[in-house]
Amino acid sequence: MNLLSRLRKPPFQTLSSQNAYAQWAKTYPAEAHNVLMQVEQTALLDLMPPLQGRQVLDLGCGTGRWGKLALANGAAGVIGLDNSLPMLQAGILETIAQAEMSDLPLAPNSIDAILCGLAMGHLTPIAMRRAILEMGRVLKSGGMALISDFHPFQAWQGGQRTFTGDDGRTYAVEHYIHSYADYFDAGQTAGLTLDAVGEPCHPNVAGGKIPLILALRFVK
Ligand SMILES: C[S@@+](CC[C@H](N)C(=O)[O-])C[C@H]1O[C@@H](n2cnc3c(N)ncnc32)[C@H](O)[C@@H]1O
Repeated sequence: MNLLSRLRKPPFQTLSSQNAYAQWAKTYPAEAHNVLMQVEQTALLDLMPPLQGRQVLDLGCGTGRWGKLALANGAAGVIGLDNSLPMLQAGILETIAQAEMSDLPLAPNSIDAILCGLAMGHLTPIAMRRAILEMGRVLKSGGMALISDFHPFQAWQGGQRTFTGDDGRTYAVEHYIHSYADYFDAGQTAGLTLDAVGEPCHPNVAGGKIPLILALRFVK
């Protein structure tokens, strides 16, 4: 498919994140269940330091995939936060709370590591910057945050993040484009330094020529 035909393809109807995950929660296992998540999981695991004895925040945890992976990698404890009650209720983590990523109910300097998988793209640019500020506030000195997002190159070309709704139709989920520069700048404002980046492709997506995932590691 060339660029023009891709642009001509009619987009799927977009649902708010709250509406989308209220429907998707019923069929959203805490594992990488599509190509996007498989590519993302490999990329973030590549950037993940040892978590032995660490207090980990799974931010935008959904059903708890990253919290589960943190525990499997030796984390001492995991807190899961998400603003979708249906996702939290369908999930597997023990310590959870409903919260906005841009307003964390956590004390300053209380978290060793933050894992934030595929949630940041649902935030407006202003909320994204607030969420990164919050990461900077709750992380201990020397702590780190791993963030993944749908790669901006995909979204700039009209790519959408889709799922099957309760009525059997395909819908897109609300998504905002955050570039590498946006993340770099937000991190600087929050006292976080970007120290590693991954931009993996998948052979079945755009011929393997356009990155599918933006994976970032920040340190405080
Ligand atoms: C694609 S799912 C990813 C879930 C999980 N992190 C994973 O990787 O399996 C995105 C999650 O972000 C959550 N989310 C979206 N906007 C949010 C916000 N403003 N505050 C907290 N959670 C949010 C959604 O409810 C959803 O559970």
